[in-house]
Amino acid sequence: MSPTSPDDLGALTLRRYHDHLNPGMVTLLKFMGLEIAEVSAEGCYVIASDGTRYLDYFGGPGVFTLGHRPASVIAAVRRQLDEMPLSSHILPDPVLAELAERLAELTPGDLQYSFVCNSGAEAVEGALKLARAHTQRPHFVAAQGAFHGKTFGALSASGRESYRAPFQPLLSGFTHVPFGDADALAAAVDDQTAAVILEPIQCEAGIIVPPDGYLAAAREVCDRTGALLILDEIQTGLGRTGKWLACDWEGVCPDLLTLGKALGGGVMPLGAMVARPAIWDVFAKNPYIHTSTFGGNPLACAAALAALEALQTQDVAALCQVRGEQLLAGCQRLAAKYPSLIVEARGRGLLVGIQFADPDMGGLVIGGLLQNHILAAFAMNARETLRLEPPAIITEAEVDTLLTALDDVLQMTAALLEE
Ligand SMILES: Cc1ncc(COP(=O)(O)O)c(C=O)c1O
Repeated sequence: MSPTSPDDLGALTLRRYHDHLNPGMVTLLKFMGLEIAEVSAEGCYVIASDGTRYLDYFGGPGVFTLGHRPASVIAAVRRQLDEMPLSSHILPDPVLAELAERLAELTPGDLQYSFVCNSGAEAVEGALKLARAHTQRPHFVAAQGAFHGKTFGALSASGRESYRAPFQPLLSGFTHVPFGDADALAAAVDDQTAAVILEPIQCEAGIIVPPDGYLAAAREVCDRTGALLILDEIQTGLGRTGKWLACDWEGVCPDLLTLGKALGGGVMPLGAMVARPAIWDVFAKNPYIHTSTFGGNPLACAAALAALEALQTQDVAALCQVRGEQLLAGCQRLAAKYPSLIVEARGRGLLVGIQFADPDMGGLVIGGLLQNHILAAFAMNARETLRLEPPAIITEAEVDTLLTALDDVLQMTAALLEE
């Protein structure tokens, strides 16, 4: 990058976004008064070109569970960079092999074989393909409002019409049922269903926690019909909800599990699909049937191994549980204080959503938080819901900072609406 003054860097970056990346996003950023660019990050903070430090309550969402640039992950990536960043793909790679073994150890039941890739959507694609090839069945059942990524297969499983409509026809054979309704799920699954794909807690739908027993009911209907259960833990996994995996809340083990986001330690992009050995047959018979040039590269795998170690030794699940209780309780107090503005605050661990009565409130509140140097966003499939997913290392005081800022912003909004 050519040397540029901090002020100019913001304007220059926006102009380049406008001309070469995403003009629509620039309109949004300018609407929120943002003419800065991000230049660095550490811990819970993103630092902008003008030097302002923003407390990161967006968090990736779900990528920065360990915070930005965790030291042990950075060190592991640096070491690997000097050894071998990308694989020859001819000789076996010990870093990928170690990661696959570690994933088998750290996932429930007999989940054992991994396809390691570059993103969450790719992990979902791998799971859908394997489910179809193993079962030889045509149909999938997914949930309304679900978010599984934006590639064709993952989008076909996702449930937001405005993201799907421009790209129709998507893959055939997908049925979407109301999330959390075990009877509707049971009615939709039959002996032609290859797999049921669910998030244990829907994130982009607005942080929707299903009723107790829903995942167990999904497991039961899959067992009864021979359909596979795919649980997408790309956002909920690795401590975020207060347990290592969100499916641990119900003790349910899927046939295929997808991971991503925090798996790369907030340093490298990485996804993984982990499957039970009984269904790995198609991939085992033909080792080149589903591959990726960069997927499972040593640099990303070194980051993942260091991230898994840090996530475990720092017990991020416990951190998310404790800080999550503080955050949710504070948000619920605000919901009680501003009943005309907030429908509900809900969530589990450090996965908290605030649903506003008016969908346009989300934009106002996000703009207000930005003025207070806090980054946040609404859920991708539910713009009436503000989604809060800070790093697990957020402190008690930093949770209070968010709650105070949110209170101020809501007070101003309530006053404006009364005028
Ligand atoms: C549950 C879930 N699945 C899949 C994805 C897609 O992941 P990626 O954006 O890495 O492709 C996301 C991303 O937000 C997600 O939250």
